Amino acid sequence: MKRIGVYTSGGDAPGMNACIRAIVRTAITRGLEVTGIEHGYAGMIAGSFLPMNLRSVSNIIQRGGTILKSSRCPEFMTREGKAKAAANLRAAGVDGVIGIGGNGTSEGAHNLWLQERLPVLICASTIDNDLYGSDYTIGFDTATNTALEAIDRLRDTAASHDRTSFVEVMGRNNGYLALYAGLAGGAEEIIIPEVPTDVPALCERLAGMRARGKTSSIVVMAEGQVSGGIFPLAEEVRKRTGLDVRVTVLGHTQRGGSPVARDRVMASRMGWAAVEAMQAGETDKLVGIINGQPHLTPLEEAYTKKKPIDQKLMDLAYILAR
Ligand code: F6P
Repeated sequence: MKRIGVYTSGGDAPGMNACIRAIVRTAITRGLEVTGIEHGYAGMIAGSFLPMNLRSVSNIIQRGGTILKSSRCPEFMTREGKAKAAANLRAAGVDGVIGIGGNGTSEGAHNLWLQERLPVLICASTIDNDLYGSDYTIGFDTATNTALEAIDRLRDTAASHDRTSFVEVMGRNNGYLALYAGLAGGAEEIIIPEVPTDVPALCERLAGMRARGKTSSIVVMAEGQVSGGIFPLAEEVRKRTGLDVRVTVLGHTQRGGSPVARDRVMASRMGWAAVEAMQAGETDKLVGIINGQPHLTPLEEAYTKKKPIDQKLMDLAYILAR
């Protein structure tokens, strides 16, 4: 193997740049050449490539987003799309690729390997922290802290007005972000996909807290969790309880910002481990962290298996928010 390609794909996450930096510098240190692929799978199909050297990744460790840009690419799901991508990569002398991303990125990479036999590894990165095969995904801690800062601010104003503040965080089909930001922010209620939502019981609990002397509360909800979303839910709670409610949707603010130390360190370790694994002949694997150490998991398992949330953390959040 002489040359590897590096790309970021799917939802960006703080720390992706630190991972690009780690891949580029580890690869060059170990005698490889590196090609940057812009806009993920779309860039493979378009042949949007650039040579990368040690200086290409200067001053990016602290930057959010991704200097290589990202995209979601339906064309790559077609047979023709993957064939074109592989042909472009081979024509550019790329012998294997390392991607940085989450579920969709892993699925794309697995299918590229199956169809084209181009060696591929993925560094686990998504603010959702929902990849099976890695205890941690790059970007999660920064996104959690961004959500937490917003929750702290909302608590100030909710307390001043004796209100119930509903906060929607990201997380697509899982509740990691909601659970961690909710637990850290002392949320009275945490609504996540892993636990069915019982609206009458939720109202009863919120009303019960008032009876115990709480004058305000915070409800953290993972996006898309209740049919219709957070606004109708908050309205129903208002009607049933008479509480003064307000709703805040944090949205894409959680994806941006300078990565916290944990994300930079995880990104650096995963990037290094990915290059080492590729040189050792590994392919079709997710590069993650298990029990504090780099770990490889077959890509198909990573995006098909469900990573469970820790029910004990949910229970703890409820006990402590009384
Ligand atoms: O997977 C990361 C994520 O931010 C999810 O939490 C969210 O559901 C989704 O991406 C949003 O995607 P888009 O950037 O396409 O709006």
